Amino acid sequence: MNFLTGPSASVAEITALVERRPVGYSLEAPFYTSQEVYDLDMDAIFGSHWLFCATEAELPEPGDYVTRQIGTSSIIIVRDDDETVRALHNVCRHRGARILEDPCGAVGNLVCPYHQWTYGTDGSLIFAESQPPDFDRERFGLKPVHVRTVAGLIFVCLAETPPADFDEVAAVIEPYLAPYQLQDAKVAHQIDLMEEANWKLVMENNRECHHCDASHPELLTAYFPFHRYSEDDVTPRMRPAFERYQAASAHLDNVCTITKAPRDTSRELDSRPTGYMIMRLPLDGDGASFGPDGAQVCRKLMGEVTDPRFGDLSLHLQPNAWFHMLSDHAVVFSVLPVAPGKTLVRTTWLVHADAVEGVDYDVDTLTSVWRATNDQDRELVQKAQRGVSDPSYEPGPYGLVEDDVEAFINWYLQRVREYLTPHHEHFEQLIHLTPASSR
Ligand code: FES
Ligand SMILES: [Fe+2]
Repeated sequence: MNFLTGPSASVAEITALVERRPVGYSLEAPFYTSQEVYDLDMDAIFGSHWLFCATEAELPEPGDYVTRQIGTSSIIIVRDDDETVRALHNVCRHRGARILEDPCGAVGNLVCPYHQWTYGTDGSLIFAESQPPDFDRERFGLKPVHVRTVAGLIFVCLAETPPADFDEVAAVIEPYLAPYQLQDAKVAHQIDLMEEANWKLVMENNRECHHCDASHPELLTAYFPFHRYSEDDVTPRMRPAFERYQAASAHLDNVCTITKAPRDTSRELDSRPTGYMIMRLPLDGDGASFGPDGAQVCRKLMGEVTDPRFGDLSLHLQPNAWFHMLSDHAVVFSVLPVAPGKTLVRTTWLVHADAVEGVDYDVDTLTSVWRATNDQDRELVQKAQRGVSDPSYEPGPYGLVEDDVEAFINWYLQRVREYLTPHHEHFEQLIHLTPASSR
């Protein structure tokens, strides 16, 4: 069967696709369109790696929870009575019913709606009616999921043994994030976008700004166009803006020195399992935030930040997240695949817990740049999905400014290679067990 035209793919075919992919080229169509590659992604990537899923600001009080659908697994992320963030499988240990259906809420205990087995917020079983006297409750707590919080960001990992390098990455990024005190922030707004595109197209699009000039006029007003420029690249026409950039960079250097905030870029996007990149960029105009001409969009600054001209702290994490931390708010993005051609992109805006809506910020102004940017990006990735689904599509070469896209793809292919080798039989089985109706 020709994989490019056939309805399904075998492990051997997927392995061949991985091995023949030329460096610096986009992926072949089945990576974006096939049910089998999607199933593999859900196991090899979303079932094996640390995923950014929520912020602590979404769970301010004990009993507050959110649910997340990661492939076929539903997860409860809840703040327990001791204020620890827990992640639990949303599957009752009696006869398996889904316990919580809402995307978020607050509970005293977790009560299964079927026969009322009742669990503490730490997942322990505390009540099960009509069991024999020797019933051992200890054996039937909700199954835990690995969970880690880093400076107010919540990560879960469905694997039995999560990637061991997460602590190293957390130690690198935590000092950058610390001044914003995200663990004490509040959610000002959240938007879920369902995008008709494969999750990798969503991530690839995020990993380059090659499309920004043509597509993101609102976002671009905040940034200088000189990232990675040397003085020699600057034409006379660009000189005034370049001088503003140099002044804003010098100011940012100074703020970082005074506040002991890390300033250097750290980039390991494809050289470790928990790939990341973190950098701080100076902003144009007022240099503060995403308001008109770089103006603040919230009057209260985040956490310990004292100078509004603190730039944009940009964090990229493989496989599913990116973040922008400004002096006055943070905007965080989490990507969860829903189907081969469908992806949920959740955007959350955080402000200081004491910031008052209508007084310190206005939701429309706070969210305006990224609402526009998200809509523009959604259009772009949907066009890409339609194009890669066309029989005439063939992989094309990345440009020089698309090196982080290459890093994302390289990271992804390494993970798939690692997965296919030891799990070969498991995956072969997975494909054959998938009911035809769901393909
Ligand atoms: S399935 Fe949950 S109590 Fe019966
Ligand atoms: Fe974009």
